[in-house]
Amino acid sequence: FQPKRLRGRRVLITAGPTFEAIDPVRGITNHSSGKMGFAIARAAQEAGAEVTLVAGPVHLPTPRHVHRINVQSARQMHAAVLPLATVHDVFIATAAVADWRPAELADEKIKKDGTGQVPSLALVENPDILAAVAALPDRPYCVGFAAESHDLLRHATAKRLRKNVPLLVANIGPATFGQDTNALMLVDDQGHTELPQAHKLTLARALVAELARRLAP
Ligand code: C5P
Repeated sequence: FQPKRLRGRRVLITAGPTFEAIDPVRGITNHSSGKMGFAIARAAQEAGAEVTLVAGPVHLPTPRHVHRINVQSARQMHAAVLPLATVHDVFIATAAVADWRPAELADEKIKKDGTGQVPSLALVENPDILAAVAALPDRPYCVGFAAESHDLLRHATAKRLRKNVPLLVANIGPATFGQDTNALMLVDDQGHTELPQAHKLTLARALVAELARRLAP
């Protein structure tokens, strides 16, 4: 039995990697599976929320009754999220957004010229979607995610302040990309608490219960 703790709330979630095209056949991406974000979308919907999920390229089925918007690049994700952010009560940024994209997109496949010369790839920075939403005057309750390899609490605390979000969730332990389980550390202005190793859906339900407590009047 799942109590409908988020009934009447609208929750916006980003999930998965982004894909930054170099030319029509190549691009830059990462190993994010989208599993954590999709699990949170499912858990929030089960808790009664109206859920919008903005997903990068992943191979996952859409959770029941979740409104899904598919995007490829960070800029597409940014463009999809920003107009929706202020009509949602909560924004949860689980996507592993590429920090940079190629400065130029080649219209045709870049060919080897046979001389052994390699092309150079100039990069430019992508927009920070979470920071942009957190900076809106009418912002939803913002939750950031972090994957850190060391000094977890210190980096997570610094990231929470830098992004200016009330809650930052850090993945505990090495490379959770693609795994079905995870452990999380929740960092806020009061300190930190841990959700021990569990299936991502179990963690997602615990996080949703925590959010419902925080949103309660
Ligand atoms: O700065 P870093 O990528 O480590 O921050 C991670 C958090 O910021 C995640 O919640 C991620 O979804 C979000 N983010 C974003 N847009 C970016 C980079 C990160 O929304 N361009």
